[in-house]
Amino acid sequence: MSGAFDDWMKTVQAGSENDLSGFLPPATAVPAKLHEAMRYALLGGGKRVRPLLVYAAGALFDADPATLSRAAAAVEMIHAYSLVHDDMPCMDDDALRRGKPTVHVAYDEATALLVGDALQSQAFLVLSEAGGVPPARQVAMLRLLAHASGSAGMCGGQAIDLDSVGVSLTLEQLERMHQLKTGALLRAAVILGALAGKDLDDAELAAVDAYARAIGLAFQVVDDVLDATADSATLGKTAGKDAADNKPTYVSILGLEPSRALAQTLRLDAHAALAPFGDKALRLRELADLIVQRKA
Ligand code: IPE
Ligand code: IPE
Ligand code: MG
Ligand code: MG
Ligand code: MG
Repeated sequence: MSGAFDDWMKTVQAGSENDLSGFLPPATAVPAKLHEAMRYALLGGGKRVRPLLVYAAGALFDADPATLSRAAAAVEMIHAYSLVHDDMPCMDDDALRRGKPTVHVAYDEATALLVGDALQSQAFLVLSEAGGVPPARQVAMLRLLAHASGSAGMCGGQAIDLDSVGVSLTLEQLERMHQLKTGALLRAAVILGALAGKDLDDAELAAVDAYARAIGLAFQVVDDVLDATADSATLGKTAGKDAADNKPTYVSILGLEPSRALAQTLRLDAHAALAPFGDKALRLRELADLIVQRKA
């Protein structure tokens, strides 16, 4: 990956950090403990892959910057909420996230529950502020994020994940779970970025969607590989947890090397989907590479 990509990534990450902070109430606002914990969960960590995807997809259609900033923040807020809840004792029961104690450890379980709830609401508040796109498209964006977050998206995937402990899923069932629990929000990030630029015609939507589905699945395949191969200090979360918890993953069902090979195939699928966009898709291509080649 080029130095220019690295510079672009750092700029988007720093801008997102700034935006996210501005879109949250101050830590001193009443109720201060909740607001402080929301900021603890959302700020100062994470790779910000979803905001990066929003901005990279925005570049396809010269999207409105203010809309991109709100869409990027909204999807990252939903993601951060999903992590807070994913780590709770009733779900994956993890004590480490983004290199820090998880929210229920640093605060308490009830606070973690409310942090997730409040981040979710804040996401829709931020995306619904008057923006630079026509109202009908803004509603479409809100609906897209709601759909990707709910029982037909991330929450649905998490429900299947919890029901699958100790169960041997077929490859088809595993793919569906991954597409929902992780793929849905990543897909939403890509399409939101594109929608910040224009109403997509069928061909544009199909191309963007093919890219989004490929990287969405690749992301969780790599997450499974890293859980089995990296250490907790590198990941900033507890490594080796999937096997310890008896979760079906790509590594447990397909094996390590075939999982790595699948991630590479999906990377190439993602590149192929971008062919109609030429140079405008440069950052999306580089992000597909990053998602597959990342070490954390
Ligand atoms: C981790 O997501 C959880 C999954 C959906 C696989 P990320 O790997 O994007 O976590 P952060 O945002 O960088 O902490
Ligand atoms: C998380 O999947 C998906 C979410 C919706 C948060 P994992 O449970 O594998 O994520 P990590 O490994 O804890 O980050
Ligand atoms: Mg989980
Ligand atoms: Mg987890
Ligand atoms: Mg994982």
